Amino acid sequence: MKEISLHILDLVQNSIRAEATRIGVYISEDTLKDTLSVTIEDNGCGMTPEVAHTVQNPFVTSRTTRRVGLGVPLFAAGCEHCDGSFNLNSEQGKGTTLTGSYRHSHIDRPPLGDIADTMLILIGGNPAIRFCYRHSVNAQEYELDTGQVQQLLGEVPLDSPEVIAFLQDFLKNNESELYGGIEQ
Ligand SMILES: Nc1ncnc2c1ncn2[C@@H]1O[C@H](COP(=O)(O)OP(=O)(O)O)[C@@H](O)[C@H]1O
Ligand SMILES: [Mg+2]
Repeated sequence: MKEISLHILDLVQNSIRAEATRIGVYISEDTLKDTLSVTIEDNGCGMTPEVAHTVQNPFVTSRTTRRVGLGVPLFAAGCEHCDGSFNLNSEQGKGTTLTGSYRHSHIDRPPLGDIADTMLILIGGNPAIRFCYRHSVNAQEYELDTGQVQQLLGEVPLDSPEVIAFLQDFLKNNESELYGGIEQ
């Protein structure tokens, strides 16, 4: 993938397919430690140990009965290639947490991409799912919890045009503030 936000878009689809009702997307950038990490956490159906093993070892499986996807392995390989690491924790009936990190300054690290638009697409397209998003850059951070927004809205749907416009402004402004107002 050319951008980390495209990986996020793809990985969150797995959580949606796993029927998660709450999905956490956490991005943490630390320029002193020189790391960028992404965590996606869901309360979906989780993976069987076999699937969990396969997604972490996609090229050594002898399985031929079902196709093996490459979304997770591609993300993991990208992180490892950039001096980072990948970790998967999944429990059937409980959910899945997946964390990938990159060396921030690695020449091959993909740019984050348009994470504000990515989150907006995910939220607007899945208004029944509670998204908890947090992005930190060194000491600066902000978060958006659509569960809290929905509570404030009462009967107004999260995917109504006014709310989407508001969320778009909120995300764009906060993202740009994280980088000191400099467009990435
Ligand atoms: N968040 C998740 N919750 C439950 N199962 C998951 C999750 N993410 C991945 N999986 C399982 O791992 C498999 C491989 O995922 P992935 O590499 O993204 O490929 P694909 O989505 O094309 O199947 C999925 O088909 C699914 O069975
Ligand atoms: Mg997938």
